[in-house]
Amino acid sequence: MTDFTPEAAPETQRRSIRSFVLRQGHMTAAQQRAIDTLWPSYGLDYRAETADLNAVFGRSRPKILEIGFGMGTATVEIAKRLPEKDFLAIDVHGPGVGNLLKLIGEEGTDNIRVMRHDAVEVVETMLADASLDGIHIFFPDPWHKKRHHKRRLIQPPFVAKLLPKLKPGGYIHLATDWEDYAVQMLDVLNGFPELANTAAGYAPTPDYRPETKFEARGKRLGHGVWDLVFEKKA
Ligand SMILES: C[S@@+](CC[C@H](N)C(=O)[O-])C[C@H]1O[C@@H](n2cnc3c(N)ncnc32)[C@H](O)[C@@H]1O
Repeated sequence: MTDFTPEAAPETQRRSIRSFVLRQGHMTAAQQRAIDTLWPSYGLDYRAETADLNAVFGRSRPKILEIGFGMGTATVEIAKRLPEKDFLAIDVHGPGVGNLLKLIGEEGTDNIRVMRHDAVEVVETMLADASLDGIHIFFPDPWHKKRHHKRRLIQPPFVAKLLPKLKPGGYIHLATDWEDYAVQMLDVLNGFPELANTAAGYAPTPDYRPETKFEARGKRLGHGVWDLVFEKKA
């Protein structure tokens, strides 16, 4: 898929509040080349029907969903650290998609598939219930102005859509560098009785998660970092 024009859903069918703003962003020649050459092998086009993830990856290993991978540097590192797991990585940002495909080509990882689409719609229409072993959402856009909080991804209605996709025993791992968003994340996850916190509050950063690009930026600005890891009860 090299045609990255926005999907042509009529405006009336679109949700009015989204968790992202589609930025144009600059696609480098190398990122575009990675899309042209590697999308057929590692890209997954959006379809408004349930996908069989084992068929997509050609094997039945544990499946981890990552929402909002940014430039994909942490995604590739995690995929290398956990080669026995498969990663479905979703973002809307074209240059990031190109960058992740470029990294996949450079590193030779075969356990990542990439989607460029609104992950909320993917969750709503493409993922089967109990199809995921884990969910990663690292440094989602903080939408720090109060009037924008409604755009935050981690809110009860979205988490309610997400949790049925997790298998019992599966986990959801969130991280943020905004303290008030961390508090909101903890409140939201604590509100779901089917989830159990793996820690007393915030969790130690699991070994598999390297520092992400946005995390490094947050730290330069003096922000803290909060990880949350909850398990779905069996
Ligand atoms: C602040 S960045 C963090 C990127 C990366 N996880 C990191 O830590 O460096 C948030 C990313 O989430 C993506 N995003 C936000 N809402 C999304 C959605 N509904 N579906 C897919 N991607 C989304 C944005 O495009 C952006 O790349």
